Amino acid sequence: MTPDSPLAERIAALTAGEDDVIALMATLACEIHHDDDRFDWTGFYRVVAPDLLKIGPYQGGHGCLQIPFSRGVCGACARSGEAQIVDDVDAFPGHIACAVTTRSELVLPVRDAAGALIAVLDIDSDRPAAFTGADADALQSILDRVFAGAPG
Ligand code: SME
Repeated sequence: MTPDSPLAERIAALTAGEDDVIALMATLACEIHHDDDRFDWTGFYRVVAPDLLKIGPYQGGHGCLQIPFSRGVCGACARSGEAQIVDDVDAFPGHIACAVTTRSELVLPVRDAAGALIAVLDIDSDRPAAFTGADADALQSILDRVFAGAPG
């Protein structure tokens, strides 16, 4: 996956002029999820209180409704503000298993134009070590363009 991929171009066209965060999250969850068969669950957890994430738009099976910053891969991303690439979820202390089939995970911070953390993007795969640094960089640049108005 590269920052100027067909996925990035499709998302730029679909989200042009839209500033409703839920509409943007719903569109990105759909486009990202259907872009790659490594992705078995794709969705957003929104920051709804200082240390609490709550589920937002997603694609795939059931997703846990609430995640405190103190728990899970999503919590680790929200606490640190850093991308989390987990090759083996069973080896990640405190991983929250919403689906027993998940083997690896990628979680990225979502920031607004002021740089505030508004959500995390969580992608699960049923394959071990499914995600690369290049995936994280390409998806992060899409998130920064759509939610923070970063040039691209
Ligand atoms: N596995 C995540 C929780 C959300 S589900 O994957 C949809 C975590 O550990 O934070």
